Amino acid sequence: MKRIAVLTSGGDAPGMNAAIRAVVRTGIDKGWEVVGVRHGYAGLIDGDMDALGVRDVGGIIQQGGTILGSARSAEFRTEQGRAQALRLLHQRGVEALVIIGGNGSQAGAHVLSQMGFPVVGVASTIDNDLYGSEITIGVDTALDIALEAIDRLKVTASSHHRAFLVEVMGRDCGYLALVAGIAGGAEAVIIPEVETDPEVLAAEMREAYERGKAHAIVVVAEGARYNAEGLAQYFHEHRARLGFDLRVTTLGHVQRGGAPGAFDRLLASRMGAAATAHLARGEHGVLMGLLRGEIRATPLAEVVANKKPLDEHLIELARALAA
Ligand code: F6P
Repeated sequence: MKRIAVLTSGGDAPGMNAAIRAVVRTGIDKGWEVVGVRHGYAGLIDGDMDALGVRDVGGIIQQGGTILGSARSAEFRTEQGRAQALRLLHQRGVEALVIIGGNGSQAGAHVLSQMGFPVVGVASTIDNDLYGSEITIGVDTALDIALEAIDRLKVTASSHHRAFLVEVMGRDCGYLALVAGIAGGAEAVIIPEVETDPEVLAAEMREAYERGKAHAIVVVAEGARYNAEGLAQYFHEHRARLGFDLRVTTLGHVQRGGAPGAFDRLLASRMGAAATAHLARGEHGVLMGLLRGEIRATPLAEVVANKKPLDEHLIELARALAA
């Protein structure tokens, strides 16, 4: 192999730069040229790519975001878009591609792989909803950011005897909310995977108030049937008695923009290096993920065909600890 390309796609995640750096440096170490594609699949279609040297990826391991830029490309979902991407890859002499991203990005990787192009995916999304990796790049840092916010909200909530609905990201997956709730000591967690009756939640908050709690923190996943705004509106319209005065904080993209912590830097470096190692062995059509403490490959066909289940033990833990 002489030339490979790397791109980041979908929502950016802290640690993507560390993964790019690892792909570039381990690729060059193998005697290859590594090309960086800008703006995800859109850059493949537009031919927006240039060779990256070892120095080009210097000083980025500690940076959030992605130096290559990311996008969600509608054009790549069309047959013409994919054919154009493939044509350009061949034209530029690119022999394999490393795709760093989450669910949508790995679905694209699978399609390219089915079209006969050698692809290796690297599991990266703050949502942690990707089959084939127990934890994905960016989750740990996003969680730390959510926790910092929750810790601060608790301080002001206690001063005013208030309840806070804190909404965290995660798309359709409740993982981030669940673990933020456990690690943040929340009074309740609302996630898409568990049906929540707002009346029951209101009763729990009232009970906490009557027991003399200084505050109530409810972590709400953005993908839950009632998101934070929806819950606040329900309580308002139904004149639910909460005891506490209520406030809503939506963390949103703040969770994505942080500088990667040690865990994400290491995970991304390991996965990036494993991606080029697989390509060097002629293995592709797989996703690099963390399984039982090791970086392992899962076929992309399996990744796209399966939904990662939420750990039932964590759901039970959140319930038991929210006393
Ligand atoms: O997939 C990552 C994620 O941050 C989700 O948690 C969120 O729902 C979505 O991306 C937001 O997408 P965008 O950045 O396009 O607004």
